[in-house]
Amino acid sequence: MLRIINVVGARPNFMKIAPVIDEMRRRSDRIEPILVHTGQHYDESMSDSFFEDLDIPRPDINLEIGSGSHSEQTARVMIAFEHVLLQHPADWVVVVGDVNSTMAAAIVAAKLNVRIAHVEAGLRSGDRTMPEEINRVVTDALADLLLTPSRDANENLLREGVAEQKISFVGNVMIDTLYRHIKKARRSSVLERLNLRPRQFCAMTLHRPSNVDDAKILTGIIDALEAIGERLPIVFPVHPRTRERLEQFNLSKRIGKMKSLFLIEPLGYLDFLQLYSNSRLVLTDSGGIQEETTVLGIPCLTLRPNTERPITVFEGTNRLVGNTPDAIMREALAALDRPAGAARVPELWDGHAAERIVDAIEEASR
Ligand code: UD1
Repeated sequence: MLRIINVVGARPNFMKIAPVIDEMRRRSDRIEPILVHTGQHYDESMSDSFFEDLDIPRPDINLEIGSGSHSEQTARVMIAFEHVLLQHPADWVVVVGDVNSTMAAAIVAAKLNVRIAHVEAGLRSGDRTMPEEINRVVTDALADLLLTPSRDANENLLREGVAEQKISFVGNVMIDTLYRHIKKARRSSVLERLNLRPRQFCAMTLHRPSNVDDAKILTGIIDALEAIGERLPIVFPVHPRTRERLEQFNLSKRIGKMKSLFLIEPLGYLDFLQLYSNSRLVLTDSGGIQEETTVLGIPCLTLRPNTERPITVFEGTNRLVGNTPDAIMREALAALDRPAGAARVPELWDGHAAERIVDAIEEASR
């Protein structure tokens, strides 16, 4: 029997663990999965609603570490997770993605000599000002099994000197989740609730510190949205961090007066999938949304200078536009003038990544 501790902490982790836990439970004659939630995200809309939408079992353990500075958050996860790992000796710790909880859990496992499997290994933006890039580099340096979503990730790892036999190209597990839930998402009433017609609106998300923590940059982005709003309304589910900044920089009042920009509370997985998959254009600084729009063939503008997911640019519908108002406006208006184009699904983004992930873990345990 393999005892595997799976760790999640923040919103983008939940979509990645859901099919993996499912697959482990299917092999319950050989695998005992334990689910640990660090509590990095804790609001109903940022956490519980995803467990519900994605049918993820309730976490066996919740560390309830909450928000804090990077070091505080990382340290709190480490202290709490060390207790867990000492009380529940495990064969593997599975970590997903690139959030602080991912790195913190990996450090603890490495120090206790528990093998680490990293799902979504090898992605690199090359930008160390991004907290996630530090988390990726550290987690991959410690992992024993590096499960990659695309071939460019394998190349990054080989370049960093990771032994080839530790790397396994399994495909994109978030796309497993997307395929499994798209039908259910079609039953969401979000378009009716917001009075939207398919392809007649843009969807927006924004939460990166590099975009929202600087008043000048955030104001410039709102300027761009005002101009784009002349063409199509923009629906913007707002991350709590961004909500705080809009208040702090006195932008909420101005936005309230904008007729084409609709700020709403963060949406659950199914509502959000229904929203962006029916949009004409997505504007985002999220990582996962670049991948999801690629698979669905929805044009996506990423408000960043770089991406750790270059395949979404080379093969998909994604364009990097940075965060200056002129570039955002120009590219958005150009995208609205072009036909949306066809979806092209990258290699192994086929809905079966979770099977390959659990196969690889079992294989590496022999
Ligand atoms: C984290 C991840 C980021 C991911 C994002 C998705 C890191 C370094 N960053 O960023 O990679 O894209 O999650 O959402 O791990 N807050 C709440 N309620 C919550 C959670 C957060 O109000 O449930 C507020 C708090 O004010 C908190 C702030 O949001 O301080 C930031 O939360 P945090 O988890 O530190 O980082 P995110 O910006 O969410």
